[in-house]
Amino acid sequence: MPDLAPNRRDFLQRTSIAGAGLLVPVIAFANPQKPQSSEKEKDSGKISPAEDLMREHGVLNRLLLIYDEHLRRLTAKQTFDGSVLASAADIIRHFVEEYHEKLEEDFLFPRFRKAGKLVNLVDTLLAQHKAGRVLTAQIRELASLATLKYVSDSDKLGDALRAFLRLYRPHEAREDTVLFPAFRSIVSAHEYDALGEDFEKKEDELFGEEGFFKVVDTVADLEKKLGIYDLSQFTPK
Ligand SMILES: [Fe+2]
Ligand SMILES: [Fe+2]
Repeated sequence: MPDLAPNRRDFLQRTSIAGAGLLVPVIAFANPQKPQSSEKEKDSGKISPAEDLMREHGVLNRLLLIYDEHLRRLTAKQTFDGSVLASAADIIRHFVEEYHEKLEEDFLFPRFRKAGKLVNLVDTLLAQHKAGRVLTAQIRELASLATLKYVSDSDKLGDALRAFLRLYRPHEAREDTVLFPAFRSIVSAHEYDALGEDFEKKEDELFGEEGFFKVVDTVADLEKKLGIYDLSQFTPK
């Protein structure tokens, strides 16, 4: 498996240098210090591969909420500068597509194929990863336009966001409820534990020590910029 760390480091450096404005929140990725956020729970040590992948889906869900909010603003014809959306698309590319999905493609899908289990599901999930990457490229490109001057660009962005949301919600729900629970039954207990450790090690290599929490903090910063961070706003009054 190719080591993606250099790419990820390039990304961190680029986003740090980009600094002012566009990708400020992503700088947190490159910060070698331990996260300071109040959201950070004490890392309780080992977690299973399924827990690791499912909490990554939690991050994806929060990014989907950021996409939802942009879609809402587009539909309401409210303006936005695109920097938060561009950062969200970057995190989807580097954390979800190039890391999380790569774990699924390198460590889960081949084992299901070898075991002859859920092969049709694996085929669909893989095709969806590919389709998702095409949409992310579109979203990233359109988000980085200084302003969406043309109605056609706004429409294109709206369509891409809608398609991404429609793709990923059922995708991750099926993985959480079918693929990940079945994974435990096709590998030995020893292999399962070892994979959990491998996943965490890889995450730390790519995103820094306790990398998961750094990514969560970065996403939280984007939510704050958008005004969707305060959880209590979603409680029915
Ligand atoms: Fe997936
Ligand atoms: Fe997934």
